[in-house]
Amino acid sequence: MSQEFQAPRGTLDWFGARAGLRRAVLDAAREVFESAGYGQVVTPTFEDTGVFARTSGEGSDVVRKEMYSFTDRSGRPLTLRPEGTAGVMRAYLEHMTRLPQPVKVWYEVPMFRYAAVQKGRYREHYQFGVEAIGSDDPAVDAEQIGLQRRWYERVGVRGLQLLLNSIGDGRCRPAYLQLLVSYLDEHADELCDECRERRDLNPLRTFDCKEKGCRAVMAGAPKITDHLCEECAAHFADVRAHLDARGVAYTVDPGLVRGLDYYTRTAWEWQWNELGAQSALSGGGRYDGLAEQLGGRPTPGVGFGAGVERLVLTLEEMGAGPATQRPLDVLFAVLADDARPRVHALMDDVRAAGLRCDAAYGGRRLKRALELADRRGVAAVVIVGDDEWGAGEASVRDMTTGDQRRVALETLAEELRR
Ligand code: HAM
Repeated sequence: MSQEFQAPRGTLDWFGARAGLRRAVLDAAREVFESAGYGQVVTPTFEDTGVFARTSGEGSDVVRKEMYSFTDRSGRPLTLRPEGTAGVMRAYLEHMTRLPQPVKVWYEVPMFRYAAVQKGRYREHYQFGVEAIGSDDPAVDAEQIGLQRRWYERVGVRGLQLLLNSIGDGRCRPAYLQLLVSYLDEHADELCDECRERRDLNPLRTFDCKEKGCRAVMAGAPKITDHLCEECAAHFADVRAHLDARGVAYTVDPGLVRGLDYYTRTAWEWQWNELGAQSALSGGGRYDGLAEQLGGRPTPGVGFGAGVERLVLTLEEMGAGPATQRPLDVLFAVLADDARPRVHALMDDVRAAGLRCDAAYGGRRLKRALELADRRGVAAVVIVGDDEWGAGEASVRDMTTGDQRRVALETLAEELRR
């Protein structure tokens, strides 16, 4: 490649049709969630490193190997946001505890993770995410999942799988983890090195291993759903009842564990298996202990994050997707030099009249302008050559029929709108 600089590894440039598709899915997400009382939250791109280190978990991939951490010029340890929830909770504790509860927010921001780059996995990715903080009502969990279904339907993705689990809480999970660790110890020589390490750091993550041997072992492992305390079991039953009432189909997967440590109770992922190894379009769950980890009072919360890149990839592969930006209505070909200032000024009037227009800039040749109009799928071309300019007129060419008619410049905006 002759160009000296390229986008950093694992980052994407968005433009053209893909940028339109990206925006359309985000527009739909905002609309769907705002219909349920969610409002936007914007938090800083970087936070004190502790905000993430303390909450994602020492054993998580994010903290162990993926954070973009640095010290600023006054020696403060900072980290580029690898995930959205901890920063939103930090902001909630700082500013939002006195608002009507639960506080429901959405965000669409970039996340930074130094991950092994592959299809669907990048070092900068965007998430559309939501958080509802201040209620432990299972109706909130199910509402988010139901709204997500509506969002996915709205943008045209079909055939997704919804995996659902409850991973218990501080009351029931410790005893379960002991059971799990003993089971892992019994099968230690059948596990891969990484899973043996996970046994110490975060035994739940052994359910996530893709190795065949480990998968076989984990298929027989004790299941968290069989060891939930009464409260967690009742909460989970309620979430399911709410989903059933909405007709949201799901598979309870006791092996569904999330990659971040702050989760309690409900956990879920929407997956599209045909996407390949990175099949999770979104992941979420409850985090009733997170506020305390950040020094706040006990405050329940639930949310999810949806990868925008993966959703766009999915839509492209399905050949589906919402209508993106509509094409230009009019292209101006100003061939007469003297006419340029006046006609370019007129273009603003045309735009103010509600039409989308652009010019074939710098060009003096009609053929080039017509080719451009074709490529851009424009409905009409306005031509102002010496002849038209002399008469105070323009020729308007219908690009589908090829018909051309003369219109006075005075009334052009109005005529075009008609
Ligand atoms: P997460 O599962 O780590 O959860 O990420 C959420 C989603 O972001 C994933 O399902 C995936 O679609 C996308 N994603 C994650 N990492 C990458 C990557 N390296 N490249 C491309 N896409 C990626 C969270 O981050 C939680 N904060 C979600 C949450 C919000 N839970 C509760 N509230």
